[in-house]
Amino acid sequence: EASLRQKLLDIHKLAARYFYYQLTQPQGRQAMEYLSGRKLTHDTIVKFGLGYSNKFRDDLYRYLRSQGYDDYILKESGLITLDEKHGGSDKFWNRVMFPIMDINNRVIGFGGRVLGDGNPKYLNSPETKLFDKSRNLYGLNLARRSRRPNMIICEGYMDVISMHQAGFDNAVASLGTAFTSPQASLLKRYTDEVLLAYDSDGAGVKAALRAIPMLRDAGLRSRVIDMKPYKDPDEFIKNLGTEAFEERIAGAMNSFMFEISVLEKNYDLNDPEGKTGFFNETARKLLEFDQALERKNYIEAVARNYGISFDDLDRLVNRYGLAGY
Ligand code: UTP
Ligand code: MN
Ligand code: MN
Ligand code: MN
Ligand code: MN
Repeated sequence: EASLRQKLLDIHKLAARYFYYQLTQPQGRQAMEYLSGRKLTHDTIVKFGLGYSNKFRDDLYRYLRSQGYDDYILKESGLITLDEKHGGSDKFWNRVMFPIMDINNRVIGFGGRVLGDGNPKYLNSPETKLFDKSRNLYGLNLARRSRRPNMIICEGYMDVISMHQAGFDNAVASLGTAFTSPQASLLKRYTDEVLLAYDSDGAGVKAALRAIPMLRDAGLRSRVIDMKPYKDPDEFIKNLGTEAFEERIAGAMNSFMFEISVLEKNYDLNDPEGKTGFFNETARKLLEFDQALERKNYIEAVARNYGISFDDLDRLVNRYGLAGY
């Protein structure tokens, strides 16, 4: 008999096919229109295996039961909920479905988006025996084959898909949760440099600040793509196009300089006190470079950008270094 794990994989494969089929049928028209409204081509829909969970609340449940799966395993799949009064019901209902694959193209979970406005905007599969959110990245099954020299990390399903459609086939997303160090290690298997393409809002900046040290610890270089004036890569590409995005990639900011630029916002550099505080904090941060040449290069870059002499900043860094920070 097939192992539990294999059964869960089979169930996910059947569900993905079922959702795709629903999308192509008359009941999927609204979902299809939603996807065309978001400028996804037929090829993109097929490539990402998008689908639709229809308005019946237990049809997936009944379909999977008809294929011989029992309540116990269906509950384990995370796609079905069971309760005494109603029996089995589908977790996803009237949503556009995004299958989440592991690096070997096997479906291990789903994200589902409402058609238009509604709450929650996205519903995701729970963690199951197949699906560990902190150890998978959406789109990595495709991005690992990219010939581009780095990987792009972004926040959302639609960001990944839009970037791939525009030729940035090295884009991946963490799955409705914050980026983790296992994900950084996973990326390190395929690349040495990561470009951060998080949303331009406060949450996106926070997410980038969290990811940068993790990437560094995994031995990855990183840079930050400026998405302004748009909210995320999907909107940027839709409005300004592929070439403009390529230019933003070329001009992406060194992650350390990005961290410093965020830090700067906490200080008033026109005030002597603020300026002193800023350079002290920056000096301490420069100590994270323990290779002499690298540290010197960063001191030089900060000095040039923030109007302090190399010698003054270098002295400050060394003083903190001696103090054993
Ligand atoms: P965003 O709110 O930035 O949405 O969430 P988005 O990706 O730009 O969505 P669109 O363009 O309106 O379709 C970023 C990511 O966070 C997760 C999803 O993975 C989403 O893609 N998320 C967001 C959830 O898991 N649940 C939510 O309710 C919202
Ligand atoms: Mn249904
Ligand atoms: Mn966001
Ligand atoms: Mn978006
Ligand atoms: Mn977004």
